[in-house]
Amino acid sequence: MEQKKIIIFGVSQLASLAHFYFKYDSPHAVVAFTVDKDYIQADTFEGLPVVPFEDIEKLYSTEEYYMFLPISFKQMSHLRREKYEAAKAKGYKCVSYVSSKATTWPDLNIGENCFIFEDNTIQPYVKIGNNCVLWSGNHIGHHTEIKDHVFLTSHVVISGCCVVEENSFFGVNSTVRDETIIGKETLVGMGAIITKDTPEGSIWIGAKSTQRESKSNQIDSISHKTNG
Ligand SMILES: CC(C)(COP(=O)(O)OP(=O)(O)OC[C@H]1O[C@@H](n2cnc3c(N)ncnc32)[C@H](O)[C@@H]1OP(=O)(O)O)[C@@H](O)C(=O)NCCC(=O)NCCS
Repeated sequence: MEQKKIIIFGVSQLASLAHFYFKYDSPHAVVAFTVDKDYIQADTFEGLPVVPFEDIEKLYSTEEYYMFLPISFKQMSHLRREKYEAAKAKGYKCVSYVSSKATTWPDLNIGENCFIFEDNTIQPYVKIGNNCVLWSGNHIGHHTEIKDHVFLTSHVVISGCCVVEENSFFGVNSTVRDETIIGKETLVGMGAIITKDTPEGSIWIGAKSTQRESKSNQIDSISHKTNG
């Protein structure tokens, strides 16, 4: 893979983590950090220059340098979306990072500015949009589509053939049934189990289990189309 020169947005722990992952697990070279002028507290971070985002393109040309914006899920990832779109408006291309310790397959269909940590299992025919974060240890089932600006924390299971609309958030250990459509800006709380399509902007907290009369063929009611 071709080496790219990268500018990381932010001087937070997340920026520090991004620097670490690019250093030890990518062919790319991080050359600088950038934040909005008002947030600059020191000239350097991780031994590299910190430059104001407002003037960044004057110092680092958009043809030569790439941007990576690892920003949290605050405001349902709208802050990350805003900064990503600002970098795009300046003309920057963004890189994605996919951990070498994630399980992926050839022809991974993934957009830019995605941050995919270790131990994610991304099955064949999954599509991931731009500006998504998949923290460590998630399972994304085959033929599922994750759209832009989505944030998965850890140990989330999105089963096969789902569609996850923009700006949705998934807390740790949450689970989505196969063939489910997660509406825009859905907030799935930690440990929640989603069995039906969710409306835009909905919030889901808690998981319930219900005892049923035992039937030996119960498992047959599981869709034949998907298995994961
Ligand atoms: C859904 C969520 C955002 C709600 O947060 P909140 O509004 O601040 O909720 P609170 O912590 O004030 O809890 C309110 C009540 O709901 C309960 N509750 C909160 N989240 C719950 C959840 N996911 N499942 C079950 N109960 C939950 C709390 O125990 C508390 O109960 P109580 O009133 O009986 O004491 C939050 O719980 C969540 O899931 N966040 C994601 C956490 C995560 O994944 N972190 C990893 C980030 S890297």
